[in-house]
Amino acid sequence: MKEQLAYLQSRITTPPEITIVLGSGLGPLADAVENPLVIPYEEIPGWPRSTAMGHAGKLVFGQLAGRNVAVMSGRAHLYEGHQIDQVVLGVRVLAQLGGRKVILTNAAGGINLTYHRGALVLISDHLNLQGTNPLLGPNDDSLGPRFPDMTFAYSRRLRELAEETLRKLGIPVHHGVYAALSGPSYETPAEIRYLRIIGADLVGMSTVPEAIALNHMGAEVLGISCVTNMAAGVTNEKIHHNEVLETGIQVREQFIRLIQAILPGV
Ligand code: HPA
Repeated sequence: MKEQLAYLQSRITTPPEITIVLGSGLGPLADAVENPLVIPYEEIPGWPRSTAMGHAGKLVFGQLAGRNVAVMSGRAHLYEGHQIDQVVLGVRVLAQLGGRKVILTNAAGGINLTYHRGALVLISDHLNLQGTNPLLGPNDDSLGPRFPDMTFAYSRRLRELAEETLRKLGIPVHHGVYAALSGPSYETPAEIRYLRIIGADLVGMSTVPEAIALNHMGAEVLGISCVTNMAAGVTNEKIHHNEVLETGIQVREQFIRLIQAILPGV
């Protein structure tokens, strides 16, 4: 992590205050950054490449809504074969640079039947079903405690701010519990019924490792899911990755307006 931190410190002029991680199809927010310094992941020593379709693979530093931001366009997932410490490396480095208020976004399947394709959901809590944890192994005491509390993993302050912003923009407000699985296969209908019973509203393959690593560091996390498809078995349709990307494209204007409007208060 020291190597990436030193490299980015040598390239940026203004440290970020806010980190934004973009999920599938939400990449265009990176193009809205003013005075952008674009750093492709392959230029950063030891930075994991993002191979997922719909994920660009670049860091963009600059301003959005008057705030200094670092935007991660593309993230590393477990299903790509990355080790869990590689999955959280990006947000850890950016938090250490100063971006300790973090907006994690993702594409997710909707389990809660009150959701619909294209809904934006504020993550209230999560279920870690990935079978691993970024804090396994010796604890780095300089980053955070051995047994970090996760009671308020998703900042109530930021969630209230996001809710108020959604209302002002006239966008329907949804809250939900996000369940993370490793993927890459989508869930079976039986798995979705099980997830609903144990309290999941959304299902996806990211975000949870980052939220754990960031809480460990004492960073403040806001999680926003875009329901790109209803989960397996909810409708009579198969799930296609193209549908996931297309919904991302349909909601991204709304999504960009939301993030821009939230940023001043973050
Ligand atoms: N399941 C898991 N991850 C997802 C889904 C889904 O239905 N949609 C987008 N990411």
